[in-house]
Amino acid sequence: MKVTVVGTGYVGLVSGTCLAEVGNDVLCLDVDPNKIRILEEGGIPIFEPGLKEMVARNVAAGRLRFTTDVERAVHHGTIQFIAVGTPPDEDGSADMQYVLAAARSIGRLMTDYKVVVDKSTVPVGTADRVQAAIAEELALRGANTPYAVVSNPEFLKEGAAVEDFMRPDRIVVGASDQQAIHLMRALYAPFQRNHERLIVTDVRSAELIKYAANAMLATRISFMNELANLAEKLGADIEMVRQGIGSDPRIGYHFLYPGCGYGGSCFPKDVKALIHTAATEAGLDLQVLKAVEQANEAQKHVLGNKLRQRFDGNLQGRHFALWGLAFKPNTDDMREAPSLALIRDLLAAGATVTAHDPEAMREARRVLGDDPRVRYVDQQNDALDGADALVIVTEWKAFRSPDFDLIKERLRQPLIVDGRNLYDPVFVRGMGFEYLAIGR
Ligand SMILES: NC(=O)c1ccc[n+]([C@@H]2O[C@H](COP(=O)([O-])OP(=O)(O)OC[C@H]3O[C@@H](n4cnc5c(N)ncnc54)[C@H](O)[C@@H]3O)[C@@H](O)[C@H]2O)c1
Repeated sequence: MKVTVVGTGYVGLVSGTCLAEVGNDVLCLDVDPNKIRILEEGGIPIFEPGLKEMVARNVAAGRLRFTTDVERAVHHGTIQFIAVGTPPDEDGSADMQYVLAAARSIGRLMTDYKVVVDKSTVPVGTADRVQAAIAEELALRGANTPYAVVSNPEFLKEGAAVEDFMRPDRIVVGASDQQAIHLMRALYAPFQRNHERLIVTDVRSAELIKYAANAMLATRISFMNELANLAEKLGADIEMVRQGIGSDPRIGYHFLYPGCGYGGSCFPKDVKALIHTAATEAGLDLQVLKAVEQANEAQKHVLGNKLRQRFDGNLQGRHFALWGLAFKPNTDDMREAPSLALIRDLLAAGATVTAHDPEAMREARRVLGDDPRVRYVDQQNDALDGADALVIVTEWKAFRSPDFDLIKERLRQPLIVDGRNLYDPVFVRGMGFEYLAIGR
């Protein structure tokens, strides 16, 4: 099938590449000429395991191409995926300008039947707005070219995005147009050979499913973070509690890890957007989700607070080693990363930082700007020299079993503050460290 993907970011590039991998003829469009230039030169603008090789293979096979030419992109695909960003607006609502701009371009230039697929995470009712935007553009030029609008939210996880797309848990297709449903089934058939994973719903339910999924996952994290803070005060170990409740099949083990707050491009903005939609469109006050968000905002400062407390309220002139900057492992994504809240807290308190992250240092430098108080080092152990503590912010695999003797030797004092509960407290304390973790 001929497929166009509008927006070549984390979702668009992964989706386009995986669709090419199974044999489709895919053209990825982006308004950012720099991104397209990098891709055309054989590079890749983001870090995502396995993606670079898959892009190269499909480009070489002639099934995957990139462009900034909107007209070419609209003419290419019968299926037009919209995978542009939907960042939070000032009031917490999802900013729809990029989605609607993409829809308008399609309406302005299409000359034959198109299935326009909202893959971006968009508020309930967006498909209607996309439908209307295309209709307006067609009316302006007196055309009545047929088209259908479909909601097909994406559930991939950064860091495992290729795997998630190739082997999805489920594929949600919200549509009413039978021809569009038929085409979507055919497009996704290669990804569900083992058993049917496609759930066809009405458009609005599909749109809400995506927010409901992210809101539930964010809720589990904030719930565990609050319980971790409680466990600390009560002398309980949250890791024991996690195992004790995760073993209940009604609860399960997934997404019960306490830490220093959730970040990333999805949970924070989607929770805010759902609260906003409920308030403005339905007059409903989503109290659970408001609390989820508040608890998370507080949790992003938990490491800064622990350090301040440990150093008697005064971090002036202190220096800290940070392991991990990305909002989670296996990505270079820094959007809403807890490391940013921590670094800002530390700098504001007069401390300095040396940080290491396997993939996100370039992105961190871009977000934080050049600041002499924040240094970056290529080797994780080089961050340790002369630091008053090692602070673990992201649970990269390379941090899981470090050389503790060397850490002790290079730190100014044997203090580890672990925002991801990577180590066994008994073992680490036995090695002579003071060890502050989350909820233990
Ligand atoms: N990142 C994730 O893990 C993830 C997972 C599921 C869903 N989503 C959702 O998918 C959407 C995209 O997220 P992302 O992380 O890929 O964003 P991103 O910022 O990485 O990519 C968006 C891309 O769209 C481009 N763009 C904007 N307007 C355009 C236009 N009119 N035409 C062509 N290109 C345009 C931008 O230049 C950018 O490259 C969001 O709604 C997000 O919530 C993201």
